[in-house]
Amino acid sequence: MSFDEKTHPPGQGAVSYGSYLCVPQLTSLQQLVSEPGHHDEMLFIIVHQTYELWFKQLLHELDTIGEMMRAGHALAAGRLVNRCVEIQKVLVRQVAVIETMTPMDFLAFRDKLQPASGFQSAQFREFEYALGIRDAGYLKNYESDNESRERLEGRLAAPPVPEAFFALLRDRGFDAPPLPLDADDDARAAIRETRVAAVSRLYAEFEAHYDLFMLAEALIEMDQQLMLWRQRHVVMVERVIGGRRGTGGSSGAGYLKTTLEKRAFPELWDLRTSMSVHHSY
Ligand code: HEM
Repeated sequence: MSFDEKTHPPGQGAVSYGSYLCVPQLTSLQQLVSEPGHHDEMLFIIVHQTYELWFKQLLHELDTIGEMMRAGHALAAGRLVNRCVEIQKVLVRQVAVIETMTPMDFLAFRDKLQPASGFQSAQFREFEYALGIRDAGYLKNYESDNESRERLEGRLAAPPVPEAFFALLRDRGFDAPPLPLDADDDARAAIRETRVAAVSRLYAEFEAHYDLFMLAEALIEMDQQLMLWRQRHVVMVERVIGGRRGTGGSSGAGYLKTTLEKRAFPELWDLRTSMSVHHSY
């Protein structure tokens, strides 16, 4: 069925706000598990669903960002990376909404959620994979969810956004080797070192490659916003459930703290340490 037929069946009059956006369907998707329904469970569901919608948008943007980079359009890709950054800022700010829930409120329905957890968010994992944060160990969460597993395997097999960025640098004559998916630790470290030298040169010669430089600055901001979301989420988790284990079975805040070091563009962070002082205007 085409998009038009789904939202605007033939003979049903002009398209309306509600029919176009599927508002009746959207507002019927909040199914509380607490009985009687706990007031804050509605908030809990809507906040998570809102995140999932934004994750969908971010993945949509990343696909096009990769295509634009592969076609050599650094400025156009950078504009969409900046859009992702604005969405991510909303995602970071939104943690404060769920934080208005007291520990008592959450404990009142938390047991009913076991073993569900944001840990299983396939779109969050897809976002990480698309950014080259590729821990295949998370696939085991999707053994009984073929659709998500296949999407995630597809992301793992496809070149992530950082590869498209370094390919752009190569096209401009930088020595920025590709990172083969099966590279061992030694090969990975050597490639990373060469790439750090490449982006250091980019920053030293930024006037000559201003489009790539602006793109690199947008990409590090995207990486930073992901890190800020991780930090904001773990502090909220400590405030709501303290040191309890997660509903997903992890150690909780302890596990989440181990994720704070994950980087999509480690080279862009490292160059800050190694770059030399340079005139800037
Ligand atoms: C009361 C609110 C929340 C609490 C107490 C909470 C708690 C946790 C805990 C303990 C984990 C670790 C995994 C596990 O469950 O064992 C986790 C992971 C996660 N949560 Fe939340 N969370 C909350 C709200 C949210 C919201 C609103 C989102 C938005 C999508 C979210 C997304 C995630 C994601 C993506 C992970 C996986 C992180 C990773 O593996 O790097 N959480 N959460």
